[in-house]
Amino acid sequence: MTTHYTSRAIADMDKVQRLKLINAVTGIKPANLIGSLSADAISNVAIFSSVVHLGSNPPLLGFIMRPTADVPRHTYNNIMENGYYTINHIHPAFAKNAHYTSAKFDREVSEFERCGLTEEYIEGFSAPFVKESGFKMGMRFCEAIDIPLNGTVLIIGEIQHLLLPTKVAQADDVNLEITESVGISGLNTYYEFTKMARYPYARVDEVPSFE
Ligand SMILES: Cc1cc2nc3c(=O)[nH]c(=O)nc-3n(C[C@H](O)[C@H](O)[C@H](O)COP(=O)(O)O)c2cc1C
Repeated sequence: MTTHYTSRAIADMDKVQRLKLINAVTGIKPANLIGSLSADAISNVAIFSSVVHLGSNPPLLGFIMRPTADVPRHTYNNIMENGYYTINHIHPAFAKNAHYTSAKFDREVSEFERCGLTEEYIEGFSAPFVKESGFKMGMRFCEAIDIPLNGTVLIIGEIQHLLLPTKVAQADDVNLEITESVGISGLNTYYEFTKMARYPYARVDEVPSFE
């Protein structure tokens, strides 16, 4: 049996039901903590599931920031003030801590402290990494693109530092089972990954017969 929602049915849904369903329709999203520092040196860390690859040369990543007009967005303000931020994979050991960074804490409160995470700095880079994370990136802010359709903003940054387990860096693919990175469905549910298959680059003359 299949349930079919039309655009009308989606528009008529209860706000929370729609939010939960539409946040989940893309399938698994990456689970990352974004670390940042305000101009007055207050650290901040918050969970984001919208990080996306934009290109590898230069190495660019984007993420979607919810509308900044009415609700204070500390990550956004810090990135605009400081120009640097970090993106840190989430692992099962601290997924619960990571989840609770989404609470709307006051600006003076560091989610690192309140959510039991440890900030870590590397020489010459002014944004906090998450010490508990084994796979993390130091980012330089490049561009913010407003999306007038719904008031969100695409934040684009370039990878300046990439820190990951050596055994993963030496292999010819990034095995997320080994890195123990987790994924998110919707806004509340976390998944661990099992590697299922690996296929070669798809060349037209090498496509197997599926008959
Ligand atoms: C699983 C999950 C994923 C989230 N992903 C995003 C996201 O991609 N973009 C966003 O703007 N907020 C996202 N949020 C909400 C932020 O975590 C939340 O607004 C947080 O308070 C931001 O903190 P800040 O004000 O310290 O930046 C997500 C929340 C959860 C629970």
